[in-house]
Amino acid sequence: MSDGQKQNANGVAYQLEPLRGLDGLSARVQPVPVPGPNQVLVRVRAASLNRRDIMLMEGTYPLPARPGVVPLVDGVGEVIAMGSDVTRTALGERVMSTYFVGWVDGPQTQALTGQQYGANHDGWLATYVLLEQESVVRVPAYLTDAEAAAITCAGLVAWAGLIKPVPVGPGDTVLTVGTGPVGLFAVQHAKMLGARVISITSSAEKGERLRKLGADEVVDRKVTPDWEHAVLELTGGLGVQRVIEGVGKLTLPKSLAATAYNGEVILIGAFPAGPGQQPADPLGGKYVSLRRVAVGSRADLELLTRTMTEHGARPVIDRVYPFERALEAYRYFSEGEPFGKVVITLS
Ligand SMILES: NC(=O)c1ccc[n+]([C@@H]2O[C@H](COP(=O)([O-])OP(=O)(O)OC[C@H]3O[C@@H](n4cnc5c(N)ncnc54)[C@H](OP(=O)(O)O)[C@@H]3O)[C@@H](O)[C@H]2O)c1
Repeated sequence: MSDGQKQNANGVAYQLEPLRGLDGLSARVQPVPVPGPNQVLVRVRAASLNRRDIMLMEGTYPLPARPGVVPLVDGVGEVIAMGSDVTRTALGERVMSTYFVGWVDGPQTQALTGQQYGANHDGWLATYVLLEQESVVRVPAYLTDAEAAAITCAGLVAWAGLIKPVPVGPGDTVLTVGTGPVGLFAVQHAKMLGARVISITSSAEKGERLRKLGADEVVDRKVTPDWEHAVLELTGGLGVQRVIEGVGKLTLPKSLAATAYNGEVILIGAFPAGPGQQPADPLGGKYVSLRRVAVGSRADLELLTRTMTEHGARPVIDRVYPFERALEAYRYFSEGEPFGKVVITLS
């Protein structure tokens, strides 16, 4: 540690023993971690839940959780100590982290995506988190802690799906499927990029909230189960240029049917199709590209926060729980119907 850094008291960290449900999540005393030469010690201010955190708990995530790992990958905090070789941040700076520990820029590789905070590297549900300096990203000043703790995973994957390989823009129509955080961010980001947005949801109330967020048109899948036809009608029979598919195989055939010639479906959702619902040949003969994305790199996250800052865009927060009630946050997140992020704050 460099000179002049404050002494800090022991904290509290939740630890995850996978495959035991909420019984596998327990709070323990956390000795103050000591940063190595390239590490940054952050005092956590807020963290938020993603679907992957439930999957890690249940053992259904592609990467197994390391027993005893501190969960959660979305978070924000203040840099309170740094290793001797750290140059990318400063004491007192408010930071978040990338999803993947070492993916800075360039193409996604299996090795880079195999190292994740909250899975096999200790994450954010703790008083302190130790970050590799390469994974640190500065937080836009205008965001609250809860909002800043909502972006790393769902915010970035929706962004990556919209800007890669070429960004959508004015003249394009984007279809969002589902109103989890991925779908909500996709609406906001697509509007920042100047596209028209059509959103699929399951109730009039959610539809109203989507419109307030910027969706130009909303189709209620409960009222219009054949929503792909409605999307085609809304696009003059042509279909949309890009779909942010936040559900998965279940809705994929409809999303493909609603896509324009040479359009793209970004398959983000991982929900499996139910029995008997597997489509025979969903890709058909339309030369639609199907691209799977794994969140994004640090460069992607920095471009996102710069663009959000320009637009003053704010993540949607559903509820905020104090750290001591983290288990309630998990319960509400997995059993309730949050519209927006579920955040845990530390005082
Ligand atoms: N690849 C990646 O890097 C990455 C990153 C983040 C998340 N993900 C995955 O992306 C998916 C979405 O994440 P999220 O956090 O937004 O999830 P979420 O909170 O679970 O939201 C999913 C939404 O899908 C809709 N939905 C649920 N069941 C449906 C059904 N049977 N038919 C049609 N729509 C249905 C619901 O919206 P309505 O009620 O409005 O229809 C629901 O709110 C998850 O599978 C997550 O694991 C992947």
